[in-house]
Amino acid sequence: MKLFDVYPLINVEPVKAQGSYLWDKNGIKYLDLYGGHAVISIGHTHPHYVKRITEQLNKIAFYSNYVIISLQDDLAKLLGEVSGKTDYQLFLCNSGAEANENALKLASFHNGKKKVIAFKKGFHGRTSLAVAATDNPAIIAPINQTDNIIFLPYNDEQALEEAFKQHGNEISSVIVEGIQGVGGIYVATESFLKKIRTLCNQYNAVYIADAVQCGYGRSGKFYSHDFAGVNADIYSMAKGMGNGFPIGGISIAPHLKPKHGMLGTTFGGNHLACVAALAVLEVMKEEKVMENATYIGNYLIGELKKVAGVKEVRGKGLMIGIELEFPCADVRNSLIFDHKIFTGSSSDKNTMRLLSALNLQKQEADFFLNAFKEVMSKMLVK
Ligand SMILES: Cc1ncc(COP(=O)(O)O)c(C=O)c1O
Repeated sequence: MKLFDVYPLINVEPVKAQGSYLWDKNGIKYLDLYGGHAVISIGHTHPHYVKRITEQLNKIAFYSNYVIISLQDDLAKLLGEVSGKTDYQLFLCNSGAEANENALKLASFHNGKKKVIAFKKGFHGRTSLAVAATDNPAIIAPINQTDNIIFLPYNDEQALEEAFKQHGNEISSVIVEGIQGVGGIYVATESFLKKIRTLCNQYNAVYIADAVQCGYGRSGKFYSHDFAGVNADIYSMAKGMGNGFPIGGISIAPHLKPKHGMLGTTFGGNHLACVAALAVLEVMKEEKVMENATYIGNYLIGELKKVAGVKEVRGKGLMIGIELEFPCADVRNSLIFDHKIFTGSSSDKNTMRLLSALNLQKQEADFFLNAFKEVMSKMLVK
């Protein structure tokens, strides 16, 4: 048997990791500013994380949602506290797509409606509804196609008002990334998110904040939607939640009521996943990583803006998009192969992404900045 070949791979095989560093099988050390698609939030193999998971593994690793798993209550309590949404309810699943799938479904159960407003350049995952709400025809199979999704331009308040005027009574939910990730790091304006809140209230639609990439402290606030001072009805999350252990979830406002059998999953909220997520939140609290993300993120954004050949730097905290005046592939290749630094791409060929661990250190940021400046100056004289 061989692997189903769907991933274009870079020719590096990490076999060890610690903090913001990876080592390949030849012992070569890399600075990881990508965190495997924004997943590594508290750093690779953080000692507290390893201890918590190891201890749990020696007790009980898994049982399904058929028995009491009080670690889920511990997680809900701590997540409520760290995210500032103490009165919200938690449903646990296994990935970002699954979180969005459940969010969209819950919204429709709640208001009995079918249509969803989603945005151009948005990405919400690859399962049926999540992919239908994703603005990329190449990954939507014929079976996923539906007339229930209305795509609008991001940050366009007028288009949003028009769509509600036209379809208001049919709109079940609006799904929106506070900062678009895969699309190239575009930040929602505060007034746009406020407008979504107002229109959802007016038309009994559910505001779904896709916080899978921009949430969990990455922007410097727990949810990047918090910058707008609005509460979403549902926050979907995954990536940074388990620092690499697969876990996702939705945080649900109190007015959305549960019913037995309404949502479910076999693996969601298992013992190991819960301790992984608890360890992440404990470290976030203890080591003030959101403050660090703001501090290092502001520093990086400020310095990157000064580099010749950089057209625009977008983002907040440690969710940074660097748009170059030319395609970024050669720059990223030189960073990884000549300077041993991992960065990310985006669906915009000129924009590279930085999605490092939230506890990235200043000297690590400086190491990257020096390498980036050197690569950029070489590219510009070519
Ligand atoms: C904003 C956003 N939503 C959802 C997803 C899907 O998450 P997963 O790959 O865990 O299904 C992603 C993944 O990149 C994402 O960036």
